[in-house]
Amino acid sequence: MIKIQIPATSANLGAGFDALGLALNFYNYVEMEESDVVDIQSLDDIQVPQDESNLIYISAKDLFNVCGKKISGLKIRQTNNIPMARGMGSSSACIVAGLVGANKLLGDPLSADDLVDLAAQIEGHPDNTAPALLGGIVTAVFDGQKVHWVKQEVFTKLKFVTIIPDFELKTEKARACLPKEVSHKDAVYNLSRAALFSASLLTGKFENLRTGVHDKLHQPYRMALIPNARDVFDIAYNHGAYAAYISGAGPTIIAIVDENNKYFTGKMRFSLDNAGLRGWEVRENHIDNQGTKII
Ligand code: HSE
Repeated sequence: MIKIQIPATSANLGAGFDALGLALNFYNYVEMEESDVVDIQSLDDIQVPQDESNLIYISAKDLFNVCGKKISGLKIRQTNNIPMARGMGSSSACIVAGLVGANKLLGDPLSADDLVDLAAQIEGHPDNTAPALLGGIVTAVFDGQKVHWVKQEVFTKLKFVTIIPDFELKTEKARACLPKEVSHKDAVYNLSRAALFSASLLTGKFENLRTGVHDKLHQPYRMALIPNARDVFDIAYNHGAYAAYISGAGPTIIAIVDENNKYFTGKMRFSLDNAGLRGWEVRENHIDNQGTKII
């Protein structure tokens, strides 16, 4: 069996809707080998589809098809540390695992660029799939066929504190609440902040991050789908976060925090408990610069 390690991801980063994403240092694991039957099991207590509707299997099959190879089955074993439907890239992790695993089984016929393109075609947007594959912070434009991307490794003294609620929010629902059209003014509001965010993160001008995560394309609409989100933002800023934003389609909220703010996570936990938000889990994470790898 080959074993694949796939990082969690956080997309959008505030204003960079469908364009910016980064990888985080907690991981799903997928073991895979060729088989004559579809044999899929979860190695933890998370229920996953065990038939051909499994997203890892679908993605592996897509790669076999692209390479002109027949697939009669696969043995897949999944360990699912990335919480599902929380805006942490669990679907992208499955897609990427299927593609990277199948590519390995076939002797690596496809390049990293090919995998980034194929993953975006399956998912529909590249801002989770590309950082899951590549690691670091990824800026990506998907033209419908091809992804034009830049990966940058990040070595800043920042932690990305994930504040994960105990309820799911499906991406379809979180996209359905968005307006079909936005004003020119709102478009400029976002593109200027997305550019400011990545330039500031990469040059260490962290005092700009709070402005950089402000957005008029998705977060104002999604806040209504995440009860108590406003309180979580306020608590994070009160404890000195540089910035806080809805991760991907939500409902997880990420606080970007200086490493020197040593007790942020404990203070966050304490304040959430005091506010009656015991169901929200707080995890301290960092950027993963490596992306998906066979281990
Ligand atoms: N950019 C996507 C969204 C990420 O916000 O809907 C979730 O897949």
